[in-house]
Amino acid sequence: MNKKAFYNMSYGVYVTTSTDNGKPVGCITNSNTQITSSPATVSVSVNHDNYTAECIEKSGLFGFTVLAVDSDPEIIGKFGFFSSKDTDKFSGFEYDVKEGVPVVADGCAYAVCRVIDKMETSTHTVFLGEVIDADTLKNSEPMTYSYYHKVLKGKSPEKAPTYVEDAADETGAKKFVCDVCGYIFEGDSVPADFKCPICGVDASHFKEQ
Ligand SMILES: Cc1cc2nc3c(=O)[nH]c(=O)nc-3n(C[C@H](O)[C@H](O)[C@H](O)COP(=O)(O)O)c2cc1C
Repeated sequence: MNKKAFYNMSYGVYVTTSTDNGKPVGCITNSNTQITSSPATVSVSVNHDNYTAECIEKSGLFGFTVLAVDSDPEIIGKFGFFSSKDTDKFSGFEYDVKEGVPVVADGCAYAVCRVIDKMETSTHTVFLGEVIDADTLKNSEPMTYSYYHKVLKGKSPEKAPTYVEDAADETGAKKFVCDVCGYIFEGDSVPADFKCPICGVDASHFKEQ
């Protein structure tokens, strides 16, 4: 099977959220899809090991914000590479609580859903939610998964359903990899004052590949 076939599929980048008995939780997802229009339903695929899956399961609720190309990339760093189990991902980011579910404010739109069904795979639960609230936020271009990879040069962790192992490097350029989010800096060395544009950690987190 040639997994490069999947590179041709299109996705957005979302912060999918839920509540842990009132505590806001959430993670980055690219697997959100509108399933029906009336009543409006949406699905999302969440890895069994992600704390967000446990909280959606228990609360029966999830929300998501559609990230924009001008959303703060540190949202992806924090929500996509740390766990709400031991990190307060919302501190430092503006959010509102809608229908009891936190929704990150820095995006183009949000929706809140009540889980009406789910499907198990060996690694992910696919939640089907009926939309109980939705609205647009700022008037910006929605971020695509391809933009995240090609322009922000972001990586996907193993828990993302679309994860693929890195292809072999053919450029021969020196590469330094962020040990938190996988962002790759290319150059002779990482400047001492460099800050990872995705997750915000300093130059000490970059190791030569
Ligand atoms: C671009 C991107 C896309 C991702 N897509 C998904 C996804 O669709 N489903 C999923 O379960 N995890 C996905 N992840 C991984 C989770 O965001 C990540 O494992 C997170 O740390 C889980 O946090 P939690 O333990 O607080 O739930 C994605 C991460 C990134 C950076």
